[in-house]
Amino acid sequence: MASENADGTYSPSEEYRKRTYIDSYAKYEEMYRKSIEEPEEFWTEQAENLDWYSKGWKKVFDWNKKASTFTWFKGGKLNACYNCLDRHVEGGLKNTAALIFEADEPGNSRVYTYGLLLSEVEKFANVLKSKGVKKGDRVAVYLPMIPELAITVLACARIGAVHSVVFSGFSTDSLFNRVQDSDSKVLVTCDGSYRGGKTLDMKGKVNEMLERETSVDSVIVVKHTGKDVVMEDGRDFWWHEEMSKADLKCPCEQMDAEDPFFILYTSGSTGKPKGVLHTVGGYMLGVTITFKYAFDYRPGETHWCTADLGWITGHSYVLYGPLSNGATTLMFEGVPNYPDNGRFWEIVENWKVDIFYTAPTAIRMMRKSGDEWVRKHDVSSLKVLGSVGEPIDSSVWKWYYEVVGNGRCPIADTYWQTETGSHIILPLPGAWNQKPGSAMKPFFGIEPVILNEDKTPTPVGQDGRLCIKKPWPSCARTLWGDHEKYKETYWNPYPGYYFSGDGARQDSDGDIWITGRVDDVISVAGHRIGAAEVEAALIAHPAVSEAAVVPIPDEMKGEAIYGFVTLKNGFEDSEELRNDLVKQVRNEVGPIATPKTIQIAEELPKTRSGKIVRRMLRKIASGSDFRSMDASTLVDPGVLDDLVKGRR
Ligand code: PRX
Repeated sequence: MASENADGTYSPSEEYRKRTYIDSYAKYEEMYRKSIEEPEEFWTEQAENLDWYSKGWKKVFDWNKKASTFTWFKGGKLNACYNCLDRHVEGGLKNTAALIFEADEPGNSRVYTYGLLLSEVEKFANVLKSKGVKKGDRVAVYLPMIPELAITVLACARIGAVHSVVFSGFSTDSLFNRVQDSDSKVLVTCDGSYRGGKTLDMKGKVNEMLERETSVDSVIVVKHTGKDVVMEDGRDFWWHEEMSKADLKCPCEQMDAEDPFFILYTSGSTGKPKGVLHTVGGYMLGVTITFKYAFDYRPGETHWCTADLGWITGHSYVLYGPLSNGATTLMFEGVPNYPDNGRFWEIVENWKVDIFYTAPTAIRMMRKSGDEWVRKHDVSSLKVLGSVGEPIDSSVWKWYYEVVGNGRCPIADTYWQTETGSHIILPLPGAWNQKPGSAMKPFFGIEPVILNEDKTPTPVGQDGRLCIKKPWPSCARTLWGDHEKYKETYWNPYPGYYFSGDGARQDSDGDIWITGRVDDVISVAGHRIGAAEVEAALIAHPAVSEAAVVPIPDEMKGEAIYGFVTLKNGFEDSEELRNDLVKQVRNEVGPIATPKTIQIAEELPKTRSGKIVRRMLRKIASGSDFRSMDASTLVDPGVLDDLVKGRR
């Protein structure tokens, strides 16, 4: 068992080094240098990790800085579904497990071999075609973590339709906004879902949404829970009935590397979610090689990423990354604490999981429930662990390393975003000593720079803003229907650089420590929630005049939501009203955005130009000393005392 070195780092074990692709810092440095100094050559070599119909690109990379547009491998032709399924079936994996589905209720699982998954995907691709879906059309997907979700997105990829997966926990309103923005004609959903032993409604929410005028012509409904649902003739179709009629074979569409692949909505600093657009070639290359190197994937291994496919982690590391590498990927419908706190470890034991990838919020929860839950199970199959979504605190890192990994498994603390498509900063597990809590080094092709607000480089050890020099293959190309906003958000704040929205610092070894968002994005249990979205939901309530929402630290979820609200004349503070406001947010955004606390205030701190000063509200909400802040810009500094008195 490898233990802590005198300098606080952890070395990969000799046993691990035998498994790793990049077994020394020197080897990493050589590859990294090449990726920066000879990018054309480096990426041309890496492109061999994918199968192409044609490598007819004239330029590997082309960047128009002014327009904030760039292309990778434009003119090259490929298909993502072919890379995830057909090539493995042709290459001898027909009877190898591609997807293991583990249901919410223990004992319910299904295994899809590569051969079976391909035939389901081909049939469903034909179902989509029968509903008029063509290359470039958008398909909205509102499904829980069931195999039909994977089948749907792979079927879209096969025929070149652009999928837009909407997390199944989102409310009717959130679904409506996303469906409308992407102008999706077809929606794939199900009757209901299971979560921790409870049955949740899905079709009812869809029906409620479709009472409004929408772009949707056809709805395909998976029968999952078997509950009675209202189906509308001519619009709604049962998945199983359509599949039983579908042709068995469906050819792959030859896609340009730069054709749109999928849209995934994420939160930013405005109320409207942003439709991040990825393209086929660069995204597939990014997820394929990061999956291989971040987890040292070896053929035959089972990979389990606990993320939902409604988020980018699910897209990249439940589905496209593992399948492109021919891995066996596990998809889990349930929650870590049902039927008991040992559920994760029972699954690891049963399926002999090799690679386990989860979020710090889940690790904190499991640590709190006690080591005995891990010890009850044989988790010795684990070889490498992963963490994603939030900074991982060093004490949580150590628990994960010692108790779950038993001191044998390095931890890939992977830093990335919906917009980056794949990992951009991470400790390669076998290449060097790991530092608990640090995401450490850039992946190939990534040149991180930490800048001050005035755009000068931040000195070593000081906090600044994380930016990336030059676009990389899996970087988002635009925001759906709003390229101006894309420019404004990512490329204009620090001209010449991609701006991540995160704070970071570099230590004297050059290792990067991510300190969290510097914009109005709140990370609740690793889920990105826009403060503006929650504020818009609060303001929609008849009693609310103004609202400002800020993060507060939360032991389990990393951050929680604290809302300050002022009321319209005629309304008064009451517990009932506060509960009603919480309900309002749950209904309008979804349960993941539930505010922990609502404080009703007389006034909010504002500048003379009327801007609410959120950084002061952050301090007040988290109980830290706000007096050190300069209040001279406020119209009425006296409001701060009232806010402190009213803190809940
Ligand atoms: O703040 C960073 C945090 O998650 C944000 C991206 O959220 P999203 O687009 O939903 O994607 C989540 C999964 C990739 C980032 O801006 N974040 C992600 N990974 C890490 C992290 N913060 C610290 N350490 C990480 N490993």
